[in-house]
Amino acid sequence: MALHGKRILLIISGGIAAYKSLDLIRRLRDQGAAVRCVLTKGATQFVTPLSVSALSEDRVYQDIFSLTDEAEMGHIQLSRDADLLLVAPATADILARMAAGIANDLATTALLATDKPVMVVPAMNVRMWEHAATKANCALLAERGVAFVGPVQGDMACGEYGFGRMTDVPDIVNSVVGHFNGGPLAGRRILVTSGPTFEAIDPVRYIANRSSGKQGHAVAAALSGLGAETILISGPTALADPAGVKMIKVESARDMLAACKDALPADAAICVAAVADWRVKSAATQKLKKNGGGPPMLEFAENPDILKTLSKGGNNRPELVVGFAAETENVVDNARTKRKTKKCDWILANDVSPTTGTFGGDANTIHLVADGAEEAWPTMTKQQVAERLAARISDHFGKST
Ligand code: C5P
Repeated sequence: MALHGKRILLIISGGIAAYKSLDLIRRLRDQGAAVRCVLTKGATQFVTPLSVSALSEDRVYQDIFSLTDEAEMGHIQLSRDADLLLVAPATADILARMAAGIANDLATTALLATDKPVMVVPAMNVRMWEHAATKANCALLAERGVAFVGPVQGDMACGEYGFGRMTDVPDIVNSVVGHFNGGPLAGRRILVTSGPTFEAIDPVRYIANRSSGKQGHAVAAALSGLGAETILISGPTALADPAGVKMIKVESARDMLAACKDALPADAAICVAAVADWRVKSAATQKLKKNGGGPPMLEFAENPDILKTLSKGGNNRPELVVGFAAETENVVDNARTKRKTKKCDWILANDVSPTTGTFGGDANTIHLVADGAEEAWPTMTKQQVAERLAARISDHFGKST
């Protein structure tokens, strides 16, 4: 009964994922929480007040202009009489209204009037989630202290695939429990590197690689979900910034290393980025031209190894340094060797040979190599890998404190 005595005001907005909120009510109550619900007008198209009321064993609040509602419980009191306001599902519309401070129904009025923490569980079509307006709204809300749970990647009711799916109910409950307990990684500061690096040839051309950043971004989101103060240092990707993390965007390996050093001290560093091993020794300051003299000769210089540098780090070494090893053969052997040469604590090795579809894909098969422990994880989504790694990091710190 991790939520015993906690009062949650669950605001259900109008998305297809609202049906999952019925289960959410039950699962929160299973943990001992009292759940009072507000439905937006849109929500009533997807779930009925009767089912919400039956599951919450309370009356359901819908109308800001209802005389009976106001007589029994004013909207201000409704927003204050809770320990947490949880918006699930949170549609693009309600997030936009929250960001703009609009109070044109009971749900948004309660959200504007509250003096309590607010947690949102977005659910919407992938394009809506990735739209610049939604991104800006979410960034603003996160900056104001609104906690985000998800969304996650997967199939959606609209038939599309991608980020926008509502986080599964057990994970929402975990996040709510984490909120009240501070989360198992609360108080820990963790750096994550993600994405490729771009190494300039001249002002318009660069050398890069096929890393999508999906794994690194998912790791950052999972760590943040467990309460860690998470700093995500990423090369260029097409991904939305994960909610709740401090995002630092860089291009080259040298910028990434500088950003990592600036972000120290940290309790852990998780290097997921596919950092370019080499850069052009002196990038041209003007665009290279075809001038009849044949192709240019590019001289390469070795880039700094960020993982190795952080692992060696002296006094500033994070307690736990984790690397990923993308291999196309002898995955485990190479991972063992890499762990030693890089002097990191754990290596998560994965096979990226073209047939596996790991680069840019959604699935990953991991072998974890640590001091005295080797684990073969089954193939799972990058998000599941991230959650499993975050849980393992949390166990590590649980034991070391
Ligand atoms: O040497 P390799 O690139 O296979 O090592 C992979 C691991 O090292 C990853 O964790 C990657 O983030 C990290 N790395 C790094 N800086 C580099 C090269 C790799 O941090 N220059």
